[in-house]
Amino acid sequence: MKKMDPSELTIRPFHLLDKEWGLLATGKEHPNLMTVAWGGFGTIWNKPVVIIYVRPTRHTFSILKDQPEFTLNIMPETYRKALEICGNQSGRTVDKWKAAGLKALNSDVVTVPRVDGADLSFECRVIASFIVDPVRFLDKAIEKLYPERDYHTAFVGEVCAVWATDRFCP
Ligand SMILES: Cc1cc2nc3c(=O)[nH]c(=O)nc-3n(C[C@H](O)[C@H](O)[C@H](O)COP(=O)(O)O)c2cc1C
Repeated sequence: MKKMDPSELTIRPFHLLDKEWGLLATGKEHPNLMTVAWGGFGTIWNKPVVIIYVRPTRHTFSILKDQPEFTLNIMPETYRKALEICGNQSGRTVDKWKAAGLKALNSDVVTVPRVDGADLSFECRVIASFIVDPVRFLDKAIEKLYPERDYHTAFVGEVCAVWATDRFCP
C-alpha cells in the first residue's frame, strides 16, 4: 500500500460504495466501525472530499459530532462477512473490531485509525456537515426511505491522505 495523490486514483465511483461498500472508522479513544453504501467523492471549496451520509440513530453519528474525523476504507471481497457484521451491529454494545476480526492501523494525518487489510483508505477531516432537509425533496419517493423521519446528516470530509494498493493505482 502506498500513499498517493487523490487525483491519481483509478476508482469507479458508482460501483465502489454501492456494490463493494465501505468501512467507516470514527473515534480516537474507542474507535468504531460502520459499513456505509451511500456517499461520494468529488471537489468542493477547492478541496478533494469524501462525503458520507449518517443517520442520527447511529453510534457513529454521536462520535462524529464529538470528533469530526473519519477514515473510509475499501476492503477486498474476502472481508464481506466483516462488512456485514459492521453494518448490522452497533458499537454501543459490541466491539466490532473484535467481532469482525479486524485490526486498526495508525493513520498518518488524522487521529482515527485506518483498517488493516484495506485496498484503499481515505483519511478525512470533517470540514462541514448538513442535515438532509425533506422540504428539499423534489422526488417524493425519497421520503419513503425515512419512515422514522431520521434524515441523514452529510459529513463532508476533506481528504488529508490517501493510501492504495495496486488495485486503485494506474
Ligand atoms: C451494506 C450496508 C450499507 C449501509 N450504509 C449506511 C449508510 O450509508 N449510512 C448509514 O447511516 N447507515 C448505513 N448502514 C447501516 C449501519 O451500518 C448500521 O446501522 C450500523 O449497525 C451502525 O453502527 P453504529 O451504531 O456502531 O454506528 C448500512 C448498512 C449496510 C449493511
